Amino acid sequence: MRQSSLVVVANRLPINDNVALDGACEWRRSPGGLVSALHPLLRHTPATWVGWAGGTGPAPTLPDVDGVRMHTVPLSSEDLRDHYEGFANATLWPIYHDAVEQPEHHRRWWDAYQRVNQRFAEATAQVAEQGAVVWVQDYHLQLVPGLLRALRPDLRIGFFLHVPFPPPELFMQLPRRAELLHGMLGADLVGFQRAQAAHNFAQLVTKVLGLPATDRRIAVEDRIVRIGAFPVSIDTAEMAALADRPEVADRARRLRHDLGSPEQVILSVDRMDYTKGIEQRLKAYSELLEGGHVKVRDTVLVQVAVPSRERVGQYQILRDRVEREVGRINGEFGRVGEPAIHYLTQPFDRTELAALYRIADVMAVTPLRDGMNLVAKEYVAARVDDAGALLLSEFAGAAAELSQAYLVNPHDLEGLKQGLLAALRAEPADVRARMQAMRAYLREHDIRAWARSYLSTLDQSGLLLTRLGG
Ligand code: ADP
Ligand code: F6P
Repeated sequence: MRQSSLVVVANRLPINDNVALDGACEWRRSPGGLVSALHPLLRHTPATWVGWAGGTGPAPTLPDVDGVRMHTVPLSSEDLRDHYEGFANATLWPIYHDAVEQPEHHRRWWDAYQRVNQRFAEATAQVAEQGAVVWVQDYHLQLVPGLLRALRPDLRIGFFLHVPFPPPELFMQLPRRAELLHGMLGADLVGFQRAQAAHNFAQLVTKVLGLPATDRRIAVEDRIVRIGAFPVSIDTAEMAALADRPEVADRARRLRHDLGSPEQVILSVDRMDYTKGIEQRLKAYSELLEGGHVKVRDTVLVQVAVPSRERVGQYQILRDRVEREVGRINGEFGRVGEPAIHYLTQPFDRTELAALYRIADVMAVTPLRDGMNLVAKEYVAARVDDAGALLLSEFAGAAAELSQAYLVNPHDLEGLKQGLLAALRAEPADVRARMQAMRAYLREHDIRAWARSYLSTLDQSGLLLTRLGG
């Protein structure tokens, strides 16, 4: 077994298996913030990525991707149902996102969560070299730091949560809250997107486990666990360079033409998730059409909503409701060849996404709650022309950094409508000044700055940073 000095552990590998039309297996980057953030960072780094390849049954053996070794962890169909779709995405996900949908609790799901976390910990223990740095990602694997420390006390272990960490009154609903906190405390550093999340964690550790904690450090037996906020980001320069390519500009021109050359394009790009506020946004847009504030020929909405977690009941219900509403709005306000909403559920390659960002006069990113939202950052990075208005929810982690966006509360329908109109009608000079400020911020605070800040706190020897070219 080849071993690495840097091991990333995440539920998903940066590829997944898709059966192409001809029945052959192809591998592609999966939509989602975690892979978008880590893949450009680790590319060409001698690291191992431990994760699930997307199917069920025995784990396939995969080739290295861009020099990163892929170590697959198998999930059975029961694991998929009870760990991924169950405990991770129907218990933790809603609790961590303000319980905007009802969380479910089943003892069988917890058993699967423990079992799968144990499997990930064992797989990681096998591929980590003596004294390696292991970086565990996200809410699917909260027990891994503790389980791994028991197996391999020599490792330096980091944990990063990409999603929000909820206030104590919500987290306290979890029947196995103490075990979840203990699991995270197996790490040397527990990182969150926002300072408020670190504060929530410190409060819970004291309340549930009785441990003394500040928002920076927690004493656990003979160790100090550090905690802190490390807002994740994107490869800003890469997105800007892509958006600046002549073929992207050509594609953007063609897209605008194909949309009927409207005066203004509103764009939203989401996974189909109830946290993303898609229904609220459609309602706001529909009421603006109904009130005559926007007209179909002048303005179009492009809603990209790539299906996600498709076997989870709440996601199926959401998709049905969104599709019914899109149909209703198009039926009521569209004309022949001129729909009010262009609704797309396909995954796009980066070039197509960059071209879409370039034609969006208003980018509407209005989640009800979101750990960060990298789409907002990608849009800003892609606007190499300094144009384009970002309409951003106050409840996205990105709002703490992109404060020059047009900020809205997506729970407030009137506020959402006013925000959308304000962004559509903003003075070009105002739009430009805001975009320039956000672009300057993202040039500094890119994915490399994030990794530097996190890894230099985790690995104070600095060896790892040198390897990452940091
Ligand atoms: P989340 O992690 O909840 O999915 P983020 O906004 O942080 O949300 O990240 C979503 C990532 O997935 C972004 O990098 C975005 O470009 C990508 N993405 C979203 N929709 C698509 C799509 N239709 N095709 C390809 N990539 C997509
Ligand atoms: O950001 C939260 C997250 O679960 C990430 O871990 C992942 O990249 C994204 O959402 C997509 O989710 P899934 O892996 O369930 O498709």
